[in-house]
Amino acid sequence: MKRLLLLMVLVALAGSWALAERTKTVNFPQGYRKWYHVKTLVLQAGHPLYEAFGGIHHVYANEKAKQGLSTGRYADGAVFVFDLLEAPVENSALSEGARKVLAVMEKDSARFADTGGWGFQAFSGGDAQKPIVTNAKEQCFHCHESQKDKDYVFSTWRP
Ligand code: HEC
Repeated sequence: MKRLLLLMVLVALAGSWALAERTKTVNFPQGYRKWYHVKTLVLQAGHPLYEAFGGIHHVYANEKAKQGLSTGRYADGAVFVFDLLEAPVENSALSEGARKVLAVMEKDSARFADTGGWGFQAFSGGDAQKPIVTNAKEQCFHCHESQKDKDYVFSTWRP
């Protein structure tokens, strides 16, 4: 009887842990290419972040994130996408190459309270089945933390 009880407790614990992990999941940003284009930046060899972010990236904002850009405060449901592609140069023309990674920030103050209210995830090659962030605090938030006065977002409004 005692063993059965212990087993039930363990199963319940595992269940709530799985649920907690799932509710922390950042969704794949379906349709983001139709969102608001915030900016584009090319990082070339020699830049300190070249190793991780070298190439050309576009930043997209959904409607709620777009609204927040001008105030620097974001409502729950705001989502930003950082779309990083290779940037090969041929005949002096820099073009978009293969997608390296699709990084996402999703605002939900309650679910992501320990990372400034933002959930962070990155999908290798833009593949929804290949999430690579296992520790958002160490892999993402520690750097975005520097933008605390702008609700942890680097991008700003540009008319
Ligand atoms: C070393 C610092 C650093 C780390 C680590 C980092 N980022 Fe960023 N992130 C930046 C910078 C700088 C920008 C602004 C880029 C620009 O101006 O085009 C940015 C922009 C973004 C944006 C667009 C919204 C914004 O803040 O402008 C998203 C989404 C994003 N990062 C997600 C992530 C995710 C997910 C991770 C973890 C896998 C991550 N970042 C890790 C520095 C970092």
